[in-house]
Amino acid sequence: MMRSYIRGIGSYVPPKVVTNGDLSKLMSTTDDWIRIRTGIEERRYAEEGVYCSDLAKEAVLKAVENAGMEMSEIEFIIFATLSPDHHFPGSACYLQPKLGLDKIGCLDVRNQCTGFLYSLAIADAFIKTGMYKNILVVGAEVHSSALDFTDAGRDVAVLFGDGAAAVIVSGTEDPGRGILHHTLHADGKGARALCLDIWDISRKPYYDETTVNTPMRWPQMNGKIVFKNAVVRLCETLFEFMFKHQINAEEVKYFIPHQANMRINHMVAGQLGLPKEKFLHNMQKYGNTTAASIPLLLDETYRAGLIQPGDLLLLLGFGAGFTWGATLLKW
Ligand code: UT7
Repeated sequence: MMRSYIRGIGSYVPPKVVTNGDLSKLMSTTDDWIRIRTGIEERRYAEEGVYCSDLAKEAVLKAVENAGMEMSEIEFIIFATLSPDHHFPGSACYLQPKLGLDKIGCLDVRNQCTGFLYSLAIADAFIKTGMYKNILVVGAEVHSSALDFTDAGRDVAVLFGDGAAAVIVSGTEDPGRGILHHTLHADGKGARALCLDIWDISRKPYYDETTVNTPMRWPQMNGKIVFKNAVVRLCETLFEFMFKHQINAEEVKYFIPHQANMRINHMVAGQLGLPKEKFLHNMQKYGNTTAASIPLLLDETYRAGLIQPGDLLLLLGFGAGFTWGATLLKW
């Protein structure tokens, strides 16, 4: 049976480090508050003029090298982001020529923090049908241009950072490795709990001088609602997923969760009785990089030599939409 597997992986974060202390000079916040409430210590910001597709390109170069393949072998691009280069066309279309690729299909996935999981599931299905042999899946974000650095936006601004990560998904007949199962969910009733309203197509025109200087231009979040839903949904989904596929926590080498808030991940691990040391994190260095967060953590873990062939990994995430999901794979 044909399975898909991660043939190559790479990530990239822009060099500019922004610490909690740096943010405390812009708004009423403190290093203590951010560390204790979120686990975040610093994040990366792209410079002016850098697009999401530029960060993605750097990650892709590393993923292609890691896969030991030529760029020209990529047959399709799936680009997950909530901070596309422009509203349209999609960032995959901007990325394609930057990679020297021509005419291959390009798809953007706008699923926020679970964009990578949704994209991986799409790539997996395409590979299994035999439609493509090598698919590029990339998650990338430039959040730093769309954060409110005044006190009004401090609850959101301290959380997010810029970054990118990419994987090459390919086919294998090897029964000892590959993507095993996915579960994907959404609850659109939660859409208003975390959203950006500046682009509102029901307004005529969709934006003008009366809307551009309002809080609508910044992401709005009801942090408590998002937090509570994240814990509840991730717990119930992980429980069902592990039960359905008869996955024993002992067998899972690492849980690779989305990096939104350390307290969310600790609560999920705690409530399910899963070993916290297997729930990995790097949010202290990068904050929440949304679509990039899961593959960025996966790449760092892999490059640290912590993942060996045959290791069982469980990727999971929750975010705006609401959307959430999990993927089980054997490395
Ligand atoms: O990827 C998925 C997307 N996002 C998430 O998963 C985020 C989920 N939510 C969260 O992580 C948390 O709700 C936050 C970190 C955003 C906020 O933490 P909290 O423990 O829920 O704090 P809170 O909203 O209850 O605020 C407590 C206090 C408030 O002050 P008062 O009303 O008690 O005087 C806030 O105004 O903390 C204040 N506050 C801050 N203080 C210093 C909010 N943001 C900050 C800040 N620095 N950055």
